[in-house]
Amino acid sequence: MTLLAVENLRVSFASEGGPVTAVHDVSFSVNAGEVLGIVGESGSGKTLSLLSVLGLVDKRVTTVTGRAVFRGRSLLDLPDREMRKIRGRDIALISQDPMTALTPVHTVGAQIVEQIRAHEPVSRAAARARAVELLRDVRIPAPEKALDRYPHELSGGMRQRAVIAMALSCNPALVVADEPTTALDTTVQAQVLDLLPLRQSHGSSVVLITHDMGVVAEMADRVAVMYAGRVVETGPVADVFNDPWHPYTGGLLASIPPLTGARQGRLYSIPGMPPAPGTKLPGCAYVARCPAAMAICHTPPPEQMDGAHRSLCFLDAGQRVAARQKVGAPA
Ligand SMILES: Nc1ncnc2c1ncn2[C@@H]1O[C@H](COP(=O)(O)OP(=O)(O)O)[C@@H](O)[C@H]1O
Ligand SMILES: [Mg+2]
Repeated sequence: MTLLAVENLRVSFASEGGPVTAVHDVSFSVNAGEVLGIVGESGSGKTLSLLSVLGLVDKRVTTVTGRAVFRGRSLLDLPDREMRKIRGRDIALISQDPMTALTPVHTVGAQIVEQIRAHEPVSRAAARARAVELLRDVRIPAPEKALDRYPHELSGGMRQRAVIAMALSCNPALVVADEPTTALDTTVQAQVLDLLPLRQSHGSSVVLITHDMGVVAEMADRVAVMYAGRVVETGPVADVFNDPWHPYTGGLLASIPPLTGARQGRLYSIPGMPPAPGTKLPGCAYVARCPAAMAICHTPPPEQMDGAHRSLCFLDAGQRVAARQKVGAPA
């Protein structure tokens, strides 16, 4: 069952030289109970796409068009008041910026209790008991004590756990986790990612935004690969990892450091930089960096499709394999 369907999302900013489009016709869906990974380099439009869907962009300078249907409701058409109700109760955001989630002036417990009571008519004592359970769920040691701590008294990893507990506090149908571990060191990252399966006990779906294909491999059921404000490939994780169609996906896969074993030569790194938003591109946005670019790639790429696996690219099956071999991606 589809929980959230985003279709042809386009986001533009007003600028002196006219509107600049940063998100181009992005479509993706999230099914009940699944983790959708949205992956791409910094600046590819991941955060902006989700903030636009959640009504969290500055409407004075931003134009958002397309559709985003969540449980039958068209989010882009809802008044702010309705959107605020949906955020926190039905859709929780774990923001890329950990400092926005917790205020420094109240204890962690006060903030979780307030969050619970803002959405449900329960007593302070009942909300506090729930908060203890939530902190226990995210494996914060001595949860009763932790509730009375201020955010700055917790380590980065514990703080992020508290943020996750707060996001789960209303049993949201959907959790949007935007680079939830980027600010943490590697071992803490792994521990925090281990918490996301909590969605199963809490019944939530997850949109997991990351620049790290390794995180997608570990956590996601399906993936949407974004480049320069477009979804260039999407499909079940196993399909996309076993047979990446778009050379950008191949480049991201070839850049994952191996977990074990001797590294064979140097790790691939995609050459060059993504185009700045507003750059006029008649064809594929990846053409300047693509190891398999052809003359035709300067014209709009077609959508190729096989079941749920889709990609915007001209390459045929043989050309894809050749492109992958060039960068040392799984071929
Ligand atoms: N308020 C804004 N005004 C103008 N451009 C913006 C604004 N917010 C984001 N952008 C641009 O939109 C693009 C996508 O950004 P973002 O969604 O943050 O990327 P990601 O999350 O994939 O790293 C970037 O090029 C960024 O510079
Ligand atoms: Mg981002």
